[in-house]
Amino acid sequence: MDHHRTPLFTALRQHAASDPLQFHIPGHKKGRGADPEFRAFVGDNALSIDLINIVPLDDLHQPGGVIQEAEQLAADAFGADYTLFSVQGTTGAIMTMIMSVCSPGDKIILPRNAHKSILSAVIFAGAIPVWVYPMKDERLGIEHGVTLESMQNAIRMNPDVKAVLLINPTYYGTSINLRQMVEFIHGCGIPVLVDEAHGTLLHYHDQLPMSAMQAGADMAATSVHKLGGSMTQSSILNVKSSLVDIQRIRTIMSMLTTTSTSYLLLASLDAARRQLALHGQALAEQTIRLARDARRQINGIPGLYCYGDEICKQEGVYHYDPTKLCIHLEQLPLTGFAAEAWLREIYNIEVELSDLTNLLCLITLGDTEHEVNRLIQALRHMSEEFLPGEQHADRVTAAPVPEASSFLLPPREAFYAPFERIELQQSCGRVCAEFIYVYPPGIPILMPGQIISSESIDYIMRHVEEGLPVKGPEDAALRRIKVVKNVHEDTQPLYQDI
Ligand SMILES: Cc1ncc(COP(=O)(O)O)c(C=O)c1O
Repeated sequence: MDHHRTPLFTALRQHAASDPLQFHIPGHKKGRGADPEFRAFVGDNALSIDLINIVPLDDLHQPGGVIQEAEQLAADAFGADYTLFSVQGTTGAIMTMIMSVCSPGDKIILPRNAHKSILSAVIFAGAIPVWVYPMKDERLGIEHGVTLESMQNAIRMNPDVKAVLLINPTYYGTSINLRQMVEFIHGCGIPVLVDEAHGTLLHYHDQLPMSAMQAGADMAATSVHKLGGSMTQSSILNVKSSLVDIQRIRTIMSMLTTTSTSYLLLASLDAARRQLALHGQALAEQTIRLARDARRQINGIPGLYCYGDEICKQEGVYHYDPTKLCIHLEQLPLTGFAAEAWLREIYNIEVELSDLTNLLCLITLGDTEHEVNRLIQALRHMSEEFLPGEQHADRVTAAPVPEASSFLLPPREAFYAPFERIELQQSCGRVCAEFIYVYPPGIPILMPGQIISSESIDYIMRHVEEGLPVKGPEDAALRRIKVVKNVHEDTQPLYQDI
């Protein structure tokens, strides 16, 4: 296929250049009706292609023209049979994956470190999660992948599951032996869905972990906007399978998508695909080189540790993405969150995320040595400022996400059940009726249907005390939590954890 072409972006440019007299939305009409300061800042070029699904520009809900062509080029570039564009992020693509394979009451195997979009989809679909536990990294306080053995156990105990969802790579950059895992799950006749939010570049360089499509997965939700160069909110859903139904997938994606799709986002996907298909390998190569250099320098800074090749010796890790710098504040007496705030205040540096003991910095296609050097300089200064000398200083200890305690009710049933609001501190043993998660990374600590454990309450309180962003509950101050009313004490857990 000719990847120099950008059918959608080109059609939009040509349409704007023809300067049609418009009697349709958006009402700003090429920017003339927009707020003048906003118009001047964003520019007329962008506003001139902020269009809608008029005939020459095709329709994302039933593509048959330039969007279809753009999606076919993307499928070719990502090694898929079909690619569907999403203007609702990877969240929209993940919901589509799950809702297209699960009907109410169907079981789906999920890793405990699943993103909140996965759990939202479970509620919408009325599915029943079966948890598999990723391997914990006690030193870093993060989670890696699930082992083949735990997947084998999960499927043996739940042979009726309708799908398995895997995260590859994790937010912190490690990946499992995906091909081996997919082969095993396929051997059981079960489709594999992959949350590939952090894996857009994987397909383009052999020093990166294998992409979901290369590993033979059935579907993958991939955030092109995160690491592939398109605009925020634009993602893709890749499909390559005889185990899932592409028509059903298209129907669900359409049901979950706004009818006012942003052509700016769609055009940015079309252009990002061109860049990746033509130059992805070279761009990934340069990014990997920069990140490896940064990693080497960070590991020379007293008090800091950034994992590298040695991580692959750990259980649950087969490979890793070197472009993600997980900077562990091993000997510095400050939380990742405090380090993030310090970098912002002193150096005007923004990181991807922080947790109790780590900072996550992403090196991407947009970086050069200049940015890396500024980061290293700031980290050196941070080490000099905070590394304890002879005197004792308390180091921060990691707190891995508590295990998902048993579910007494299916998440959907708990979400819609009659509820009451009680003090969080008094809620141990009750059935949660809402989500609580730290964002980023957005992994639920508690979800509807789950019995609230004292470990979960402690984990939440520790994060609140350290000032980390605990989000989700209706009471944003986190004093009170919604729990299901009138659950009988003798109700048996829905199923045993694996
Ligand atoms: C692991 C994971 N999955 C899914 C998502 C959702 O992606 P998006 O923000 O594109 O909706 C995220 C977002 O951070 C994520 O980290």
